[in-house]
Amino acid sequence: MAFIDIVRSRRSVRTFDGKPLAENELNELLSFCRSIENPYGVPLEWLIFDAEKTGLSSPVIVGEKAYITAKVPRAAHAEEALGYAFERMVLHAAEQGIGTTWIAGTMDRKAFEKAAGLQEGEMMPVVSPLGRPAAKMSLREIMMRKGISADSRFPFEKLFFDGSADRPMAKEAAGDLAGILEAVRWAPSACNYQPWRLVIADGAVHFYLKRNKGFGEGRLFDTQKIDIGIAMCHFALAMEEAGRPVSLSLDDPGIAAPEGGILIASYRFD
Ligand SMILES: Cc1cc2nc3c(=O)[nH]c(=O)nc-3n(C[C@H](O)[C@H](O)[C@H](O)COP(=O)(O)O)c2cc1C
Repeated sequence: MAFIDIVRSRRSVRTFDGKPLAENELNELLSFCRSIENPYGVPLEWLIFDAEKTGLSSPVIVGEKAYITAKVPRAAHAEEALGYAFERMVLHAAEQGIGTTWIAGTMDRKAFEKAAGLQEGEMMPVVSPLGRPAAKMSLREIMMRKGISADSRFPFEKLFFDGSADRPMAKEAAGDLAGILEAVRWAPSACNYQPWRLVIADGAVHFYLKRNKGFGEGRLFDTQKIDIGIAMCHFALAMEEAGRPVSLSLDDPGIAAPEGGILIASYRFD
C-alpha cells in the first residue's frame, strides 16, 4: 500500500466490533513496536493490556478488548520521540486493519499508570485501544468527529513555507515535495489542532511548534511536542518511500521562525 493511502485511510477508531484480536496479531504488533527506532534514540517500553482483565477503559471508546501504551523516561525530546514512534505503530496497525485512537486526555490516567507500573522518572502520555473497527460508528463517535472537524485539515498555505516563514507555500509550488507534505498535512494531532509549521529551506525542513492556548509549560507533559513528533514521522516515512532518507539536526538554522513558532527540529535531505 502506498504511504499516502495508509495515511488517508487511517482515522481514529472509537467504536470497535467487541471481539478480541488474535494473540498472534497482538504479538506481531508488539514485536513491530519493539523494532521501531525514533530519531532521538529515546528508549520506549511498549505494553499491551487486556481491557477486561485490567478493567481499563475510556469514556469515548466502545467495544475495545485491548489497549497499547509506551513508557518513556522523562528526558529531553521524550515527547517528540514518543510522538514519532507511537505514530509509526498507529500507521502499521492501520495497514493491518487494526483500529487505534491516540488518547492523552479521555482516560482514567491513574488506572492506566498503575496497570503499567509507572515509576518515578518515567512518563506515559498516551494510550490507544486496539481492535477491529465496528461496521458503524457510535452516535457519540460521529458527534465527536463533527465537533473537532476530524475529517478536515488546514490548507497547505497555512502549514508550509517556501524558503522563509513569510512565504506561504501552495501545493502547486511544492514540486517533488508536494506528495510528501500532503502526507504531513493529514497527520493526526490532539484536538486536531495541527500545531506544526514547516519551513522548507536549503535542503532542510524546519519543524516549528505553534502552540494553542492551554498546552505546554507546567503540564505533566507537552502534548503538542508529541504532535510535532507525529508530523516528523509522516515526513520521514514519506521521504523514505521516495528513496530520500532524512537526517535529524537540532542546530539553529538561523532563519526567522513563523509567527509565534518555536523551533523543535530540522530534517536535512538531498
Ligand atoms: C497526542 C494526541 C492526543 C489525543 N488525545 C485524544 C483523547 O484524549 N481523546 C480522543 O478521543 N481523541 C484524542 N486524540 C485524537 C484526535 O482527536 C484525532 O487524531 C484528530 O481529531 C484527527 O482525527 P483522526 O485521527 O480521525 O484523523 C488525540 C490525538 C493525538 C495526536
